[in-house]
Amino acid sequence: MYAKLKEHLSKELNSIKEQKLYKYERVIESSQGAEIIVKGKKVLNFCANNYLGLSSHPELIEAAHNAINKRGYGLSSVRFICGTQDIHKELEQKVSKFLAMDDTILFSSCFDANAAVFEPLLDSQDAIITDALNHASIIDGIRLCKAQRWIYRHADMSDELGMDEATGKEYKGLERCLKEAQNCRFRMIATDGVFSMDGDIAKLKEIVALAEKYDAIVMVDDSHASGFMGKMGRGTHEFHGVMDKIDIITTTFGKALGGASGGCISAHQEIVDWMRNKARPYLFSNTIAPSVAGATIKVIDLLSSTTELRDRLEANTIRFRKEMTAAGFDIISGEHPIVPIMFGKYPDCSKLAVDFANMMLEEGIYVIAFSFPVVARGKDRIRVQISAAHSDEHISTAIAAFTKVGKALGMI
Ligand SMILES: Cc1ncc(COP(=O)(O)O)c(C=O)c1O
Repeated sequence: MYAKLKEHLSKELNSIKEQKLYKYERVIESSQGAEIIVKGKKVLNFCANNYLGLSSHPELIEAAHNAINKRGYGLSSVRFICGTQDIHKELEQKVSKFLAMDDTILFSSCFDANAAVFEPLLDSQDAIITDALNHASIIDGIRLCKAQRWIYRHADMSDELGMDEATGKEYKGLERCLKEAQNCRFRMIATDGVFSMDGDIAKLKEIVALAEKYDAIVMVDDSHASGFMGKMGRGTHEFHGVMDKIDIITTTFGKALGGASGGCISAHQEIVDWMRNKARPYLFSNTIAPSVAGATIKVIDLLSSTTELRDRLEANTIRFRKEMTAAGFDIISGEHPIVPIMFGKYPDCSKLAVDFANMMLEEGIYVIAFSFPVVARGKDRIRVQISAAHSDEHISTAIAAFTKVGKALGMI
């Protein structure tokens, strides 16, 4: 019975292999960190979401062990049947305080939080207005919801309606979408706090102002910001000085906040209460493991007691961006530890980016090339991600390797 599907899949798999789009996994033979073992060799990792260097932090490992010892390995239940422990409630309270939101509801991942958040709140009388470059999980969450959709051109706050010459497609700015959605019952603007390919930060001040003008609520996915953006590391709402103006924050514990797994929705009390009753990935999926809850509590305690790690990350990011720019690389400017090194201005840029990443591994630096369809054609890049775990020496070694390979390939 499987023969026809097998033939189809084999053909498709060969096709993406020929287009160099097949995703191979490089295997790490150590724990996650600034220094990892790949193929028996120590290399420096410059492409993890391990922004604060907490993925293998001894205090988190101890907290995870403690949680296993005291609360077991798993709960074998969804939250509302018999899957809620005191540590789940404690984590929800601590995350709410850290993000300065009323309440928080945990999910197995932020992908699940985004799959959960739209459908219970909005239906066909309502509007979701979403940035064109939002993360796949926001896009999928919106697909699960019956609300009418408006997609605004990435980061375009304007009242414009225009034609994109490159794609031949119509585009709209956010204000235009809000105007068009005025007859809907409720309007929700949904945006990533930080866009993961370019590392650019959503214009939350302008978004909040437009939300006030056009009576909309604002949802932000702060997966690439929670724990380190803003002076106290609270996220993009702190960074932009709009901490009391965001209605819903979704975020992950799988990046800066420990790196294992888990996510949440933090929001107004009524929204969280409604999610506990209606959100399908909450009602029909297992609770997060005690080890993850226990270790994430430790993360929030750690980050609430000192800004040392986010300060270190900020200093590392400023240095790397400055020295790579001085070395002659084309990097997308900004402040975020996602630092995209762009290849579009060079001939055969997709191959060049892949060759570059392979040569960097030879130099002991682990980075990855991103090409179409992950990014637009001609926007090929190596996306470097800086960590607080990087020492000054790690950063010097990486910049020296980039410079050596860049010169060898005639880029700088
Ligand atoms: C912006 C954004 N949202 C959500 C997610 C999903 O997070 P999780 O790994 O917790 O499912 C990611 C992860 O890639 C992300 O980058």
